[in-house]
Amino acid sequence: MRRARDRIDELREEIREHEHRYYVLNDPAIADEEFDRLMHELQALEAGHPEWLTPDSPTQRVGGQATEGFPSHAFGEPMLSLDNVYSVEELREWEDRVRSRIGDAGIDYVAELKIDGASIHLVYDGGVLRHGITRGDGRVGDVVTGNVRTIRSVPLRLRTDDTVEVRGEMFLGIDAFRRLNEERGSRELPRFANPRNAAAGSLHQIDPAMVRDRPLDFFAYTLLPRGERQSGDLERLSGLGFRVNPHWRACGSFDDVVEFCREWETRRDTLDYEIDGVVVKVDAVGLQDRLGSTSKAPRWAIAFKFKARQATTVVLDIKVQVGRTGALTPKALLEPVVLGGVTIRNATLHNEDEIDRLGLRIGDRVLVERGGDVIPKIVKVVEEAPDRREFQAPASCPVCGSAVFRADDEVVRRCLSQACPARMKEAFLHWAQRKAMNIGGLGERLVKQLVDGGVVSDVSDLYRLSDDPDGLAALERMGEKSVGNLLAEIDASRAVGFERLIHGLGIRHVGERTAHVLARHFHSMSRLMAAEPAELEQVDEIGPVVAATVSRFMREPRNRALIERLESAGLPMASDGPAPERPNQVFAGQRIVVTGTLEAWTRDEAKVLIEARGGRVASSISGKTAFVLAGAEPGSKLAKAEKLGIRIVDEARFREMLV
Ligand code: IVH
Repeated sequence: MRRARDRIDELREEIREHEHRYYVLNDPAIADEEFDRLMHELQALEAGHPEWLTPDSPTQRVGGQATEGFPSHAFGEPMLSLDNVYSVEELREWEDRVRSRIGDAGIDYVAELKIDGASIHLVYDGGVLRHGITRGDGRVGDVVTGNVRTIRSVPLRLRTDDTVEVRGEMFLGIDAFRRLNEERGSRELPRFANPRNAAAGSLHQIDPAMVRDRPLDFFAYTLLPRGERQSGDLERLSGLGFRVNPHWRACGSFDDVVEFCREWETRRDTLDYEIDGVVVKVDAVGLQDRLGSTSKAPRWAIAFKFKARQATTVVLDIKVQVGRTGALTPKALLEPVVLGGVTIRNATLHNEDEIDRLGLRIGDRVLVERGGDVIPKIVKVVEEAPDRREFQAPASCPVCGSAVFRADDEVVRRCLSQACPARMKEAFLHWAQRKAMNIGGLGERLVKQLVDGGVVSDVSDLYRLSDDPDGLAALERMGEKSVGNLLAEIDASRAVGFERLIHGLGIRHVGERTAHVLARHFHSMSRLMAAEPAELEQVDEIGPVVAATVSRFMREPRNRALIERLESAGLPMASDGPAPERPNQVFAGQRIVVTGTLEAWTRDEAKVLIEARGGRVASSISGKTAFVLAGAEPGSKLAKAEKLGIRIVDEARFREMLV
C-alpha cells in the first residue's frame, strides 16, 4: 500500500516537471510516448486508489465534469483595464503625467508585449490551483476552473506551497486558431473572427472536454500580493512554474521604452501568437501605489496600441470558387490595399449567408482586416455604393455547368458532379498534401495540366502514370528529371499507410484526426466499408454527422470503385500488424456505472473491458444507466441505483456477460 502511495507522489512530481519543461520552457526532456506511459501508470494507480486522488494531480487536467452555467466571483482587487495610446507622442504625454505626479525622479519601466487574448485570474491555495476566473466586468467574473485546468501552461500545482493569486492572458496561437477555424469550417460551424474571440469563447464552453481540444495557452504577468517591482514579479512567476512571455524588457530610460514599442510593431509578425501592442508599466510597486488608479485603469500602466491591420477598400466583384467537396465559396475581389505591409486583393466570404449578414453588395466600400487567418476578411460595409449590385448565387456550377444543390441543413451550395474539373483538382491537391499521401511536386500547376489535359480523372490514375512517362514529359515544364522525381514521389506514397489514405480520400468531415481514429478502430478498409452508421457512432470521438457521411461515402458505388482501383494499384488497405480480435459488442450503446472495489480488475481495467464491448462508463447514475457493476464496499451509488430501480450486477455475473 505504502509503495503505491509513494509511487503516485513520485509520478506526479515527475509528470509535473515534464509538463513544465514541455509547455512552459519548450524544452522537453523525454519523448511523448514516455510521457504518456508515466501518465497511464499514474491513472491506473489512481483508479485503484480513488481515495488518494487530489485535484492537483496531473491526471485531473483533462476530461472533467460538465458544469451548468458558471458561478460568480467578486475580485478583492478589481481587474482593471488599461488606457490606450496610439502614437509615440501620446506615450510621451503619459510619461510626462507620471513624472509630474511623482516628482521628477528617474523612473524605471517594464515594457511587455500586449497579448491579444482574454485575461484570467488564478487562485492558488497552499500551492494548489483552486479557482480560475474570467475577467467579467472587472469586479465580478465567472468561475471557469474546469476549463482553465485544461490549459497546459497553467500549473495545477506551484513549485512552492505559496498562497498567491496570478493574472495573465489566456490565448490561442495562430496555428491553433487556423486549425480550429478550418475544422469548424469543415463542420459548417461559424468561424471565429480572430484568436481572441476563439480564446474567450473557449473559456465559456460548458464542456471542459471541448476546451481541451483547443490548445489554449497562458502567459502570466501579475502576481498578487505584489513584490517590490514588476520585473521581480515576472521573475518570480517563472520561478513558480508559469509561462512568462520572454520578450519583456526592463527599461532604465523612456527612450528604451519607445525603442521597444517601435521594435515590436515591426516584429509582431514573427510571433506565433497575436499581440496588439506593448504594455508599459512603472516598475517600482511603491511608485505604482503612489500613482494609484482611476475606476477604470491604473495610472501606472499604459497600452501602446499598434496600428490595426485594418483598412477600407472597394469590393470590385464577387466570384465563386469550387472546393473538393463541391462547396461553392464566394470570394470578394478587392481594389488592392496594403494591410500591415501585405497587398490584399481578395477576401473570403465563406458562404452566401455571410454576404447577407454583412449586407454586402458589389461596389460597396468595406472594412477589411487581416487577423490570425491567412486570408483577410471583410468586417463590415462602411459605405454603400449608389450603383451597388446584388450578388447572384449561381444556379449552376461556374466551372462545369452542372446543377448545384443546397441541402436544407447546409449553408453552402454544392456542385454535385463528380466529373467537375474544379472538384477533381481540389481532390488531387488534397490527396497530395503532406499530411495525406505526401506527394511532393504535385502542385496546383501540374494538377491543372493533368486534369485539363484529361490525363487523370481520379487519384488512382496517378499510379498508372509510370506506364507512360513520355506522356508526362510532353507536359509543360516537365523535364525528364521532374518526371522521374514525380513518379518516385507517387511510388513512395504507396508506403505512407492506411490512416493517411483514409484522410486522402477527402471524405467530408474526415480530417487527419478522424482518419486516425477510424484506422485505429477498424483496422482495414473492408471493415470500414461495411460499418453501419450505428457502429461508426460507437467509436469514440465519432458523432452522428461524421458517422452518416462516412457511411454514405462508403456506400456510393463510385467511391467503392475508386477504392478498388487504389487497392489494385498497391495502396495500403489495412493498418500494419494483425487486426485486433474484436470482442462481441454485448454492451453496445449502454451506459454503465462501476462502483466499489472489484477483485479481478481495477476500475480502469473494467472500463477497458466495457468499452471494448461497445459500452460507455459513466461516472454518475441517471435514468440512462443500463446497469451498475458493484464490487465490494460500493458506497452511495448502489443505494441510488436501488432507489431508481436500476439493475445491479455483481462481479461474477459481469464475468459471465463478458464472454
Ligand atoms: S497588465 C492593471 N500586461 O490587455 C493592469 N495586461 O487592454 C492590467 N493584456 O485586461 C493588465 N497583455 O487582458 C497587462 N502584458 C500584459 C498584457 C495585458 C495583454 C490585456 C489584459 C488587459 C487588457 C487591457
